[in-house]
Amino acid sequence: QNNYKVTVCGAAGGIGQPLSLLLKQNPLVTDLSLYDIVHTPGVAADLSHIDTKSKTTGFIGADQLGDSLKGSDVVVIPAGVPRKPGMTRDDLFNVNAGIIKDISNSIAKNCPKALVAIITNPVNTCVPIAAEILKKAGVYDPKRLFGVSTLDVVRARAFIGHALGVDPQSVQIPVIGGHSGVTILPVLSQSQPLFKGDQATIEKLTVRIQEAGTEVVKAKAGAGSATLSMAYAGARFAGSLLKGLNGEKNVVECSYVQSKITEATFFSTPLVLGKSGVEENLGLPKLNDYEKKLLEAAIPELKKNIQKGIDFANA
Ligand code: APR
Repeated sequence: QNNYKVTVCGAAGGIGQPLSLLLKQNPLVTDLSLYDIVHTPGVAADLSHIDTKSKTTGFIGADQLGDSLKGSDVVVIPAGVPRKPGMTRDDLFNVNAGIIKDISNSIAKNCPKALVAIITNPVNTCVPIAAEILKKAGVYDPKRLFGVSTLDVVRARAFIGHALGVDPQSVQIPVIGGHSGVTILPVLSQSQPLFKGDQATIEKLTVRIQEAGTEVVKAKAGAGSATLSMAYAGARFAGSLLKGLNGEKNVVECSYVQSKITEATFFSTPLVLGKSGVEENLGLPKLNDYEKKLLEAAIPELKKNIQKGIDFANA
């Protein structure tokens, strides 16, 4: 087909703008739809002067949400309130949960077959909310709903690549679980090239990957959370969804999806992406004893995060 409509919900934000810029450069996108409650006409006018083939249209305000989504093949959602210093991702919960609920209801009406990728935090909880809302509307397909945990993989590749003195782009590493603190499980024992070191070194890198979002929040000192790296990761993930839709084979990304792999009903593992979204869940990579302990710590936290989303959606 080679010809797709992508909608960014929250396109005027710190993540949304660079994400839209990167998507504007993706040759598989023909129709780039930018939705936000502010500024999208300007962002769209600006991007529309870039000499790539996609048509860029801005939609502003809740009244235009439906039109922005209509017929979308892929919807990427960074809409929400970002973290400020001292805030955890969960503090954002009430505002962001409401936004996800509204957008999910509109997706159900306007593009029920779209592949939906959620960036809005807390991702661990926002994805189950969207699932419940889509379920209530009778259009939920677990193969088509994703939490974007690509930034955890991107960070792990950057940290390992620079530590080993190799090109980060050549590093392969599964990062599984969820997208917050202890739920993030970088499987360093399976990294290629292998990240070797004593246990203290392994633990230090593991914790750095788990807490990398906080590293950025602190460094930005009040100006928000990760935006540019998140936009890069979001564009890479959306690009992989589009490649899968377009029939490319062996497109693999780790993403947070409904899953029977562990006791947590949503869990990130490597997935093969294809025409209908998740083509195959590749399951848990081999874990060493330390990683098994991390998994044991992640599961109860994830289950809590998931239940919170289910309760919110059904309240
Ligand atoms: N519908 C659409 N867009 C909305 C809505 C809504 N109901 N409410 C807010 N937005 C928009 C804002 O207008 C803003 O343009 O979402 C955008 C958010 O941008 P920023 O405030 O700059 O936040 P950002 O750093 O991009 O983070 C957004 O992604 O990673 C997560 O934790 C982060 O949840 C946060 C989200």
